[in-house]
Amino acid sequence: MTIQKTLSRHLQTALKNLLGDALPPTCKIGVDAAQDLRYGDYQSNVAMALARSLQKNPRAFAEEIVRNLGEIDEAEMEIAGPGFINFRIRPAYFARKLFSMSGDPRLGVATTEHPQTIVIDFSAPNVAKPMHVGHIRSTIIGDTLARVARFMGNKVITDNHIGDWGTQFGMILWGWKHKLQPELLEKDPIATLLQVYKDVNALCKEKAETLEECKAELVKLQSGDTENLAIWKRCIQLTRTGLEKIYDRLDIHFDYWLGESFYNDALAPLVQDLMERGIARESDGAVCVFSDGFHKPQQDPFLVSKDGQWQAVPAIIRKADGGFLYATTDLATLDYRIRQFHADAIWYVVGAPQDKHFKQIFDIERMRGVTGDFRHIAFGSILGKDRRPFKTRDGETVSLQDVISEAIERAGRVVREKNPSLPEEEQEKIAQAVGIGAIKFAELSQNRLSDYIFDWDKMLALTGDTAPYLQNSFVRICSIFRKTNTHFDAITLDSPPILRHDAEMQLARLLVRFAEVVPAILEDCRPNILASYLYELARSFHSFYEACPVLRSEGEERESRLALCALTARVLRRGMDLLGITLPERM
Ligand code: ARG
Repeated sequence: MTIQKTLSRHLQTALKNLLGDALPPTCKIGVDAAQDLRYGDYQSNVAMALARSLQKNPRAFAEEIVRNLGEIDEAEMEIAGPGFINFRIRPAYFARKLFSMSGDPRLGVATTEHPQTIVIDFSAPNVAKPMHVGHIRSTIIGDTLARVARFMGNKVITDNHIGDWGTQFGMILWGWKHKLQPELLEKDPIATLLQVYKDVNALCKEKAETLEECKAELVKLQSGDTENLAIWKRCIQLTRTGLEKIYDRLDIHFDYWLGESFYNDALAPLVQDLMERGIARESDGAVCVFSDGFHKPQQDPFLVSKDGQWQAVPAIIRKADGGFLYATTDLATLDYRIRQFHADAIWYVVGAPQDKHFKQIFDIERMRGVTGDFRHIAFGSILGKDRRPFKTRDGETVSLQDVISEAIERAGRVVREKNPSLPEEEQEKIAQAVGIGAIKFAELSQNRLSDYIFDWDKMLALTGDTAPYLQNSFVRICSIFRKTNTHFDAITLDSPPILRHDAEMQLARLLVRFAEVVPAILEDCRPNILASYLYELARSFHSFYEACPVLRSEGEERESRLALCALTARVLRRGMDLLGITLPERM
């Protein structure tokens, strides 16, 4: 059990003793890690939270609780301020925790009590449109959430819901027939298809005739023309091959690639069903879902306020011309995931501008009586150094492929400078880990909802909260063990470590906290909790290493300090693995 849970149970017992049935069963007995260590390691404000409704003085009530608890094994207690209960963990308790962590491959992280089937929908680029840096956020955040959710013992299904059915195919088909250079297509399918799309798009603006021809190609595709279907399939196949190369370099993989087109046959019956059930109705020839008045107008995704009036913004699920829309596909997709995958939870890692779309989808599901843990995991934009959307010098969107290549090249320079004597092949591998790690860490250390500035120098710096800094810390630990001709994986404790020095205590405190940090990520899908924890851990390791000699100490103390180093390395490696980042042992 984590320390937080143990302390919270203690408080619960005391409160039950004091209040009996007057203790509200839903009362959340929160115990938080303290911000300021001078006041202890953990803190609870439960006395203050309850005192109000009990009409008690919060400080006196806190004292009552502490008195009821008496001596506890884990910590000393103290009342502070208006009624906080502070816990100062005893070194012996930390030492015992570290001891059990040392023999545990999961490093103290318990699996979830209620495992779920979670479908994670992320990345999802569009065929014949570029996968740009905006997709980087979805791809990296989604992959981390999948890793963490899996590690917590859930059944996770990753699904790349690519946009493989859209109006862009009218232009692609026309371009394929009139413009295509097949040799380029084999070499770089994604860029070539994109170029075709751009060229034809430009042409359509000049020549109305071409635009009409493109539209006709699209209609032919939609009505099942064999030639067009074959070209369309080939485009998807080529794109998928190109994308897989990118995902491989990122070490990101999907269980399924069920793109939008997969649901085409389900759309008409779905709309029919929604109409029959009175959830959708016709409006100006289109089929729409309107508000059912369930929410207050402020929270209603089918209403907007205009000039002081609430106006309807229905979800259109069939256009007047009979065509279906993004929303229709998403409803069918959700159905499929519930039916086929038995999903308890479906998480969509998609940019903030689609907020309204997902709110409407989830609300339509509510109207249909479909329930589950549906989340739109939104994120902000990536900006250039000028604080405007991140673009290339000539104003084009930056492609993910180019970002990866540049990251590896830049990292290569850093690695060669740092350690020119390493064999070239190893340098190459390290550059890969550092470059890709840098992009991932820069992403994952942000609050996902804020915009962030894409800054090469900052993300590749060897100091600060960067992947290279963490990788370097890990390398340092590996080199300590190389000097003793062992590997940290071979170190286990025979007895609890000695925690005498402040720096040892601080490192212990953070190591033990790993078990609390990992589950907390999923509460609100925030990988930055883990990223900042790992940074703090690495910093604390450096302070420890400066203050406490390891190899130059002796006997039990040496054993104990080596064990702290080994545990740090293991937590760093496990934590970075959850972020999808590789740690080389040398660099
Ligand atoms: N292809 C979409 C885009 O690029 C993202 C799809 C997200 N997933 C979903 N089920 N809607 O904006």
